[in-house]
Amino acid sequence: MKNETLTIAIDGPASSGKSTVAKRIASELDLIYVDTGAMYRALTFQALESNVNIKDQKALVDLLEKTDVTFEPNEKGQSVFLNGRDITYDIRDNNVTNTVSVVAAHPEVRVLMVKRQQDMASNNGVVMDGRDIGTVVLPDADLKIFLVASVKERAERRHKENKEKGIFSDIDQLKKDIAERDYKDSTRDSSPLKQAEDAFRIDTTKLSIDDVVNEIKKLIQKI
Ligand code: DC
Repeated sequence: MKNETLTIAIDGPASSGKSTVAKRIASELDLIYVDTGAMYRALTFQALESNVNIKDQKALVDLLEKTDVTFEPNEKGQSVFLNGRDITYDIRDNNVTNTVSVVAAHPEVRVLMVKRQQDMASNNGVVMDGRDIGTVVLPDADLKIFLVASVKERAERRHKENKEKGIFSDIDQLKKDIAERDYKDSTRDSSPLKQAEDAFRIDTTKLSIDDVVNEIKKLIQKI
């Protein structure tokens, strides 16, 4: 199969390594990388900044209709723009991280987001990561991957990343936040985090990034 039309769905819980792995695969195969979590984060950021109530589905839909989220490759992976403004770092803020699950749980917000994501994949080969890519957004993806890792390992990874960025974090609090986000993402009514039946499950707890990338590349060769 030609790379230009390849569609790869990578799903999994928070901090399971999806985005790092997805970016590597996209860059090695020259495919577009779409970080769907960043789209929900961008809307959350916009809502918080413009004082829109994140529990008000209609207000969020109105806001989303006026909100354009675009991606551009940069030396570290990808920059995220909201109506042309660079919000790459703002969307990783704790305020956004701790409220995005509420925004992502609204069914009408999801319908619009899914449509935009499907449009991005309609004429391009993509590596798309998220929670519902293999189940809802790209049910016919050429390859579906579901990444998992223990809560302890994910909290340790996040802690290390924060330390490298000079951000202090408490590991026990990170464990609690990750477990809580897992719970919210997998128990919501609308498109909960769930492994697609035809997805390959990879437990990354004891694997390096290279190990995971190589495992996925082996699967790609079999398509
Ligand atoms: O992957 P992330 O942490 O950047 O995702 C942010 C939030 O968005 C997370 O709470 C799950 C939600 N999300 C979703 O519901 N569906 C997606 N396709 C991607 C993310």
